[in-house]
Amino acid sequence: MTIPVFLVLVSFIQCGCFVSSLYHPLDPLNPTEIDQIRLTIQESHLGSLPNLTYHFVDLEEPDKEDVLKWLSSSNESKLNRRAQVVVRAGGETREVIVDINNDSIVSDHVYSGHGYPPLTFNELFLASKLPLQYPEFKESILRRSLNLSEVSCVPFTVGWYGEAITRRTLKVACFYREGSVNVFARPIEGITLLVDVDSMKITTYNDRLRAPVPKAEGTDFQSSKGKPNSSTLNDTNVGKGFTIDDHEVKWANWVFHVGFNARAGVIISTASIFDAKKKEFRRVLYRGHISETFVPYSDPTNEWYFRTFMDIGEFGFGRAADTLQPLIDCPENAAYMDGYMVGADGKAQKVPGAICIFERHSGDVAWRHTEINVPGKVIRSGEQQTTLVVRMIANVGNYDYILDWEFKRSGSIAVGVALTGVPAMKATSYTNTKERTENVYGTLVTENTVAVNHDHFLRKCNFFFLSHGCTLSSRFGQKEPVVMLVTDLS
Ligand SMILES: *[C@@H]1O[C@H](CO)[C@@H](O)[C@H](O)[C@H]1NC(C)=O
Ligand SMILES: *[C@@H]1O[C@H](CO)[C@@H](O)[C@H](O)[C@H]1NC(C)=O
Ligand SMILES: *[C@@H]1O[C@H](CO)[C@@H](O)[C@H](O)[C@H]1NC(C)=O
Ligand SMILES: *[C@@H]1O[C@H](CO)[C@@H](O)[C@H](O)[C@H]1NC(C)=O
Ligand SMILES: *[C@@H]1O[C@H](CO)[C@@H](O)[C@H](O)[C@H]1NC(C)=O
Ligand SMILES: *[C@@H]1O[C@H](CO)[C@@H](O)[C@H](O)[C@H]1NC(C)=O
Repeated sequence: MTIPVFLVLVSFIQCGCFVSSLYHPLDPLNPTEIDQIRLTIQESHLGSLPNLTYHFVDLEEPDKEDVLKWLSSSNESKLNRRAQVVVRAGGETREVIVDINNDSIVSDHVYSGHGYPPLTFNELFLASKLPLQYPEFKESILRRSLNLSEVSCVPFTVGWYGEAITRRTLKVACFYREGSVNVFARPIEGITLLVDVDSMKITTYNDRLRAPVPKAEGTDFQSSKGKPNSSTLNDTNVGKGFTIDDHEVKWANWVFHVGFNARAGVIISTASIFDAKKKEFRRVLYRGHISETFVPYSDPTNEWYFRTFMDIGEFGFGRAADTLQPLIDCPENAAYMDGYMVGADGKAQKVPGAICIFERHSGDVAWRHTEINVPGKVIRSGEQQTTLVVRMIANVGNYDYILDWEFKRSGSIAVGVALTGVPAMKATSYTNTKERTENVYGTLVTENTVAVNHDHFLRKCNFFFLSHGCTLSSRFGQKEPVVMLVTDLS
């Protein structure tokens, strides 16, 4: 739903890191390349533009045809590396293509279409701090007899209702921490602030209603079990049943590439499976990733109607990717991969352990058979189901999306999404359901607390070698996605 401003800002590490010797044309941009891109932009005519900020930087993928040619030939020469860069400067959005081989700008144009690039962490962070300095907000807090030092504010995107949009804006809602680390459990209801992002100023302030702040007691979500003994973050490949060479993963009859970007998070590409009969690899998936999520809340009141989050386009699963906790987020036999992206200043940021890869022994049967019709024999055989999972977790505000790509020996790939975290909660004066005299657009989950009705829709795109399809899936709690396949044979 919202943004992990506080947690994520501290977990980023600015880096001047490694350069790998292995090469795949779909390798994500490495820190050296990210530095190079920033220097190229800085030294060009763009460098002197006012307030230059980087909103998105990613590999501009080579054409599929060229990648396929590269895959099927033993020619080791590298394909041209390019990056797509979205910057804002002087109130304009620019789309730039940078050639990384010769450090030049291939194209640059001002974008004038609908919408704005994703918000930077810096913008979200600054917006979250504005209310605490705003006199009318301070008065509202005082009138509610609350302590301003215990208030945390969270920026929300504003949705779109068909109006012409000419400014980048955010709405900010605030929460009361006192006595709890579960910020989202203690909303300060009734106050909405509108922030103009380019000038970073509050432009509209509305204190419309009051409701008691839900109690802190019983809201702590921290596990009493403590941290498990973390053991093996380093010995990447030992005894795990698979190998990782830079971004290429080999397991059982599979070989595939694992990439990462700020928008989608994990990107699986060029996945092939070995066909033992034909003694050759069969191409299964060219590229697969989550392309969007849509999380509309179904509460039409002033403080809630606009909460219609597109967690990927507005914030980014990659940017919300959390460092995985060994033995909690991933099992003991997992290996880890870091993710890199670009900060508002154009510098590389590292998310350590953003992806984990592990063999799953589910306890299920892959196949089995007993044959009693061979005279004098009972032949009983089979194999246990073992799969390989590539996992990331996007911590988008109150929600944590656990995203799995699971490879099976049978040649299929299953994509799973699990949701955990805490629900988005609204404060209400009701303490039990019998008191309720009006629609609260949700479920009263405890005194003074409504978990507001909403859906999570996830859209995943698979670009197969011969066709591609996107599936729209998963209302909250529904395990099997509703599948809608679009085929395009071009
Ligand atoms: C290898 O590929 C590159 C780029 O596609 C091409 O220029 C070169 O001629 C190829 N070399 C051989 C030996 O095929
Ligand atoms: C640059 O940013 C500052 C601070 O947000 C703002 O006051 C100023 O107007 C911006 N300048 C331009 C040319 O956008
Ligand atoms: C850089 O390389 C690209 C293609 O590889 C080419 O189109 C462009 O003209 C080159 N730019 C410079 C400044 O050499
Ligand atoms: C307000 O909160 C701050 C920080 O948590 C604390 O130091 C201070 O004593 C509190 N003030 C009052 C009046 O309770
Ligand atoms: C962690 O290891 C220590 C020492 O080996 C052991 O005493 C402790 O019980 C372990 N904790 C957990 C949660 O397994
Ligand atoms: C992993 O390796 C690094 C550097 O070699 C070391 O500092 C760190 O303690 C190791 N971590 C674990 C969990 O063994």
